[in-house]
Amino acid sequence: MNSRFCDGLGALTLGISALLGCSDRDIDPSQTETDALQPVEPTELLSYSCRQDETKESTPPGSAAKLPKTLRETNRLLGVAVNAAGLEDPAYAKTVAEQYSQLTPENEMKWDAIEPEPGVFDFTRADTIVAFAQANGMKVRGHTLVWHSQLPAWMEALTGTDAVRAAMTQHIQTVVSHFRDNFPGVVVAYDVVNEAVNIAQGAMPGASVYRDSVFSRELGEGFIAEAFQIAHDTDPDALLFYNDFGIEGMNGGKSTGAFNIVSGLVAAGVPIDGVGFQMHTGPTDQGPGAADFRANIQRYADLGLQVEITEMDVSLCSIGANVLGLELQRYRYNRIVSACFDSPACRSVSVWGLTDPNSWLNSNGCMQGMIVLDTQPAPLVFNETFGRKPAWWGIYDGLMGCSYQ
Ligand code: XIL
Repeated sequence: MNSRFCDGLGALTLGISALLGCSDRDIDPSQTETDALQPVEPTELLSYSCRQDETKESTPPGSAAKLPKTLRETNRLLGVAVNAAGLEDPAYAKTVAEQYSQLTPENEMKWDAIEPEPGVFDFTRADTIVAFAQANGMKVRGHTLVWHSQLPAWMEALTGTDAVRAAMTQHIQTVVSHFRDNFPGVVVAYDVVNEAVNIAQGAMPGASVYRDSVFSRELGEGFIAEAFQIAHDTDPDALLFYNDFGIEGMNGGKSTGAFNIVSGLVAAGVPIDGVGFQMHTGPTDQGPGAADFRANIQRYADLGLQVEITEMDVSLCSIGANVLGLELQRYRYNRIVSACFDSPACRSVSVWGLTDPNSWLNSNGCMQGMIVLDTQPAPLVFNETFGRKPAWWGIYDGLMGCSYQ
């Protein structure tokens, strides 16, 4: 028990230390990087008790072996969403390459970026990211082939079953074959279909489980199976995922809807390899809780599928990016990342952006009703100077087989 800090912490964190458990960190600080290490000072002293799994492949904290210095060195498949412009910044590129082993283009592979006009494909910015991954020995998740959002106006306005089917087929075939042929073995997985479950499903009785889109309107619910089949026929080696938000836990109409759709695909022999949970979440252990998430992973694993966390961020809007918020964020990252990697079905975990200023959540800021709050989401694991936040330690500990209690 680190009584010195636990004692001092009580008033500051409203008893959170007691809630989480407080024990000495097993990691020898002298073995860690010092250049980029700059979480708020007191948090460095706070640690949690761990459920240590000694059977994990990675070096257990406290062992004599040299500890990994970066997330990437822990040898788990850990990803980050990047953008092509960001990679032009040497500090950004260095941190990405040191810390992560998988990239997701944040916007560059979306339909509006890659096929802005019918049949006119522009791979320039997507290729920048895939080439960076290739040069650094990383994998890429292709995001995303079929999605209702970030579609060019011409695609959104397309009508007629044949026209939509032809456009979808050409798009998937052209994108998947481009990366298959130009970067063999690099784009190993695709979010074939993104967010197809109706956001209102469950809340509004009678609402369709399928979200309205040009695809569902013109092709019917079979568009999902069709898209997976086309992607599989184009690159049989690629892993094919259904990706969504709000389906991370067991309960609720949307989770049930997604599970029913995916189970149906599996039963029908559709070539689907797994499910991506976006995991845009907050600092409390809910939405979903770690135990709920574990149970949900298991029911997909029981179908023979892989699972991934594809877009994790932990917004601090509700609590503020203060010492308590940053510590809860560390706890939350640890619990969720551990839940995934504790399952043999978990392929990878990805965060949705490198540094806090890079986060897509900044575009809306923190709102309460119509009021913009004077706090920041600060949802990621590196700060604006590429320094490691407490959340970085949450992931690191999880990758080292240490799940906080
Ligand atoms: C977001 C990007 O981060 C933003 O830059 C863009 O303006 C909108 O899309 N779910 C997804 C991602 O599947 O593609 C979204 O990315 C975030 C929510």
